[in-house]
Amino acid sequence: MQGLTELLFRRVYEECFPGAISLAVAPFISLTHNLQFAKGRSMETMLADVLPESNKGSIPVVPQILGKEPEEFVEMGNMLYEMGYMEVNWNIGCPMRNITGKHRGSGILPYPDEVRAVLDAVVPRLKSRLSIKMRIGLRNKEEIFALVPILNDYPLASVTIHPRTGRQQYTGVPDLETFGHVLPMIKHPVIYNGDICTPHDIRRIEERFPSIADIMVGRGILYRPTLPLEIAGATDSQQLTVHFIQRLKEEIKTILPTEQSKIRKTKEYWSLLWKALPISEMQAREVLRAQEFTVVDNLIDQLTQ
Ligand SMILES: Cc1cc2nc3c(=O)[nH]c(=O)nc-3n(C[C@H](O)[C@H](O)[C@H](O)COP(=O)(O)O)c2cc1C
Repeated sequence: MQGLTELLFRRVYEECFPGAISLAVAPFISLTHNLQFAKGRSMETMLADVLPESNKGSIPVVPQILGKEPEEFVEMGNMLYEMGYMEVNWNIGCPMRNITGKHRGSGILPYPDEVRAVLDAVVPRLKSRLSIKMRIGLRNKEEIFALVPILNDYPLASVTIHPRTGRQQYTGVPDLETFGHVLPMIKHPVIYNGDICTPHDIRRIEERFPSIADIMVGRGILYRPTLPLEIAGATDSQQLTVHFIQRLKEEIKTILPTEQSKIRKTKEYWSLLWKALPISEMQAREVLRAQEFTVVDNLIDQLTQ
């Protein structure tokens, strides 16, 4: 997740909970790198999150690409392959309006011909395996039914489905009925994603859809960082959560360069992570209101005693 499950988070997570997460999809790398270069961002900056040297001792990752320009896709994909990545993931699920308007992310879902054109141009030239992360449509769930036969025509490593439409963003509930309809139609391993926050959510999905290959957890890993350990039977999750939050804060404090960046990043995480603690929303909001990093720092220390 952009801005959340980036390298700093993944490193601290792996340090605190070694091996608990088998694989993470890294936040997307956008193919509009001409634009990025124009803004002064180098390729190295774009790839910083997935540099193998920096990712040593972190959760294993699959890099993700967002965009639909075949030439750039192949170039980026093969560069990632040279860096050691045997799989890249194509994001056709992002719901942000500034992205979907250009038929990128979930914006491409109503256009099966465009999806086919990208896969036709990219798959034969990509050195790594390709997996896909998608929603069930941009505007409506019928869109995925037109896409399934196309996806089945290519050798994909897996298809991860978040069964909401792009227009829905994060509102409503995942459309499990539609997920259940498309699941047997897809010949690739299918991974479920959406609103998995508790061990009960995982059991519910596994029981209802025994043929899924895996489950991807998104925001749930911040609402409840010990979720994977709880499934494995851990009981002291509160203590582990506190340690993780403190380590994450310390790492932000050490690594981020400015007072403002430390405040912004710590608050970004805190706005989700506090829910894993036995504290009230009012207490959590105090941290979000604080204007100085030392105050943020001290408040979090007090709340995680
Ligand atoms: C802040 C934020 C950033 C996200 N960034 C990405 C991303 O870079 N790539 C991606 O595939 N999904 C991204 N997602 C979507 C999640 O991976 C996931 O599909 C979605 O949140 C639903 O799953 P969840 O209910 O488990 O969070 C992002 C979600 C959020 C909230």
